[in-house]
Amino acid sequence: MKALVLSGGAGTRLRPITHTSAKQLVPVANKAVLFYGLEAIAAAGITEVGVIVGDTAVEIQEAVGDGSRFGLKVTYIPQERPLGLAHAVQIARDYLGDDDFVMYLGDNFIIGGITGIVDDFRTHRPDAQILLTQVPDPRAFGVAELDPAGQVVGLEEKPQHPKSDLALVGVYLFTPVIHDAVRAIEPSWRGELEITHAIQHLIDTKADVRSTLIKGYWKDTGNVTDMLEVNRTVLETLEPRIDGDVDEASEAIGRVVIEEGARITGSRIVGPVVIGSGTVVSNSYVGPFTSIAENCRITDSELEFSIVLRESSIDGVGRIESSLIGRHVEVTPAPGVPHAHRLVLGDHSEVRIHS
Ligand code: G1P
Repeated sequence: MKALVLSGGAGTRLRPITHTSAKQLVPVANKAVLFYGLEAIAAAGITEVGVIVGDTAVEIQEAVGDGSRFGLKVTYIPQERPLGLAHAVQIARDYLGDDDFVMYLGDNFIIGGITGIVDDFRTHRPDAQILLTQVPDPRAFGVAELDPAGQVVGLEEKPQHPKSDLALVGVYLFTPVIHDAVRAIEPSWRGELEITHAIQHLIDTKADVRSTLIKGYWKDTGNVTDMLEVNRTVLETLEPRIDGDVDEASEAIGRVVIEEGARITGSRIVGPVVIGSGTVVSNSYVGPFTSIAENCRITDSELEFSIVLRESSIDGVGRIESSLIGRHVEVTPAPGVPHAHRLVLGDHSEVRIHS
């Protein structure tokens, strides 16, 4: 069995933060979403992985390399334009040969991995197996309709009036029958060959399409609360490890990961917390459910339930909570009593100010 990992698409950003490019590299607990996917594939016993790349190919290739550090053998398959998930299967035809495969969308996050699902597929080997999850607003997803027996009877791509709250998760298991289906469909209104339509084609031609309902699914939809929440969930599973320097005036309590090259002085770190390499925390408090990425400086401040992306600094600003701070950000105290707020904020920022 092989894996086909989709890491194409145009560059995007970790909304509401600008300047973040490949959406598959958005970090959760200081690790790219895509890496969790690759680890889950390796854990399921799959080693041959085709990675579809687009505009952000260079960035993805730099991050993933030849895959050996995940125990994988990665082959890159360029997709000239984002023409859809079924198009990606078409262009991977030669790579996939007649093997069964798991198609994994690189911006999807499945808490707990896919080993059980892959084992189940290997045992029963239906023509296709899809994963579904309940979401509050299914209109941004493919949506499944089930009959009373739980059998999938219909799939719609981003419907205005969803027939259920069951979204298609971006992990699909296929036998080679999918190759005929991806050739039998027409582009959708958005000009893409939709994998949803190819699976509908399988259903229409009486193929055996099974579904599994899962929990613990996340995808970046620009919702900061969701982002903090998935970060919290993953931090709770960390193996504590202190590879950086923690001086005698500091303490690190609970599930704390301090990467090599990080330095903690005169500070209190209460886990679950991860602190990236090259980051310096001094005279500060870092509280539960916080991820601080590489090369940041936290000085004379308190930080809790927050995410700080790389190369940012927070200096002398008291307490920060429930926050998402982008790359290369500087947070400093305003001198004196401000008569007006002076703000330099990225696109789509949401700011709450005490007036
Ligand atoms: C794609 C699929 C959709 C699925 C989603 C999961 O959407 O077309 O059916 O629910 O991935 O991430 P897209 O990312 O192309 O908007």
